[in-house]
Amino acid sequence: VTDQQTGIDSRREPAQEILVDNGKTLLTLDELARLQPGMDRMMAEIAERTRRLYFAATAEAWPAADYFCRTLTKHLAASAVARPKYADAMAIFLEQDYAPLRQAVLAKDKAGFLAAWDQLVDRVNHWHDEFGVGYLRYRTPTDPPSDLDFS
Ligand code: HEM
Repeated sequence: VTDQQTGIDSRREPAQEILVDNGKTLLTLDELARLQPGMDRMMAEIAERTRRLYFAATAEAWPAADYFCRTLTKHLAASAVARPKYADAMAIFLEQDYAPLRQAVLAKDKAGFLAAWDQLVDRVNHWHDEFGVGYLRYRTPTDPPSDLDFS
């Protein structure tokens, strides 16, 4: 990306010359980028998806559990793209902490899922501690989503 002659890294150039219209105002691409969800909003969505995964798997609705497992992987990985300070931890989380859950869903193994789930809850809280948000204590949800039928 760095121009050999000028030494300018085009990724570092401000994108302020390009304006986009949100229907109410004109925004620079930097302003638009800053309006994208941060870790807080992404985590809230991740937690909702995790809740759906939990109730789908415990109801043994495996196609739905598989769907939530896959999309959760995608959202977890995306959070680290938007916030690179979490990239190394997120890679470890996905490869080590989350993988047993994924495997249990692929094997349609409810007992395996429940064992992997308890481990996952501990690991989520471990990473929250690591990043100074240990007060965001994750726990197993008790309220199934009312808008999806896993029976
Ligand atoms: C399935 C896995 C996970 C779940 C269910 C989960 C759940 C949550 C929840 C419910 C919140 C509070 C969101 C809000 O309402 O504002 C949160 C925040 C947060 N989580 Fe997670 N989390 C997970 C994995 C991780 C991992 C692996 C990391 C780090 C590598 C992480 C780092 C954070 C951070 C830093 C915040 C605070 C957001 C901020 O500072 O803006 N979480 N998480």
